[in-house]
Amino acid sequence: MGLHHPSASMGGGDTPPIAVLVSGGGRTLRNLAAAIDGGRLRARIAAVLASRECPGAAWARQAGLTTIIRPGDLSAGAFQRVIEPFAPALVVLAGYLRKLPMLPGLEHRVVNIHPALLPGFGGRGMYGLRVHEAVLAAGCRVSGCTVHLCDAEYDTGPIVAQACCPVLDDDTPERLAARVFEVECELYPRAISDLLESAFTIDGNRIRRIPA
Ligand code: GRF
Repeated sequence: MGLHHPSASMGGGDTPPIAVLVSGGGRTLRNLAAAIDGGRLRARIAAVLASRECPGAAWARQAGLTTIIRPGDLSAGAFQRVIEPFAPALVVLAGYLRKLPMLPGLEHRVVNIHPALLPGFGGRGMYGLRVHEAVLAAGCRVSGCTVHLCDAEYDTGPIVAQACCPVLDDDTPERLAARVFEVECELYPRAISDLLESAFTIDGNRIRRIPA
C-alpha cells in the first residue's frame, strides 16, 4: 500500500466524511485509504485522530490528511469539540486503544474492528497479540474478526459483520494475527460501506438491515 492520492480519500462532493481514530501502526487506516482509492469504499477521510504520536498518525500527516493528536482518554466535551467540525457520518476506530465517551448524536455511528470472533476474546486489555494468544490457548480451530458498533463498554456493541479464518496446528500468535489481519482488510471496508450506504434498525444488540 503506497501513499494514496489526495483526490480520493480527501475528496469532497457528496462523499460521506469519516473520522478515523488510531493509536498504533496505522495498517487499518492505510487499508481504508486504499479501499477508498480503489473505489471499494465511497467515503472520504475528513480527519484522523490519534491518541498519541504513532506510525498511523505519521502516515496520515504525510498523506496530507488532517491529523490531530489528543493523548489519553477523551472527556465527552473534548471528543465533541475535536470531532464536531468534521461532521463525520461514521467514526471509525482503527486500532484506537482508548475508551471513547458516547456522545449524543453519535450513537450507533462509532464502529470498531476486533481481531477475534466476539463475544469471545474481547474486553478490557484484549488487544494485539494477547487476543491471538488467548484464541490459541483456548484451542479454537477457527478465529476471525468482528466489526461492531461501539457502546459504553469494550467490544460489546451490536455486531455488524464477522469473517473467519482457520487456526492451524503450528500457529504462533504472530502467524494467526497476520492471517486474521488479511481477513480484516477485506471485511472492514465492506462493513463500513454497508453502514454508510444502507439503513439499519437496532434492537438490543441485534442490527438488521432495512430492505430498500
Ligand atoms: C487491528 O488488528 C484491529 O483488529 C485492531 O487493532 C489492530 C490495528 O492495527 N482493532 P493497526 O494499528 O491498524 O496497525
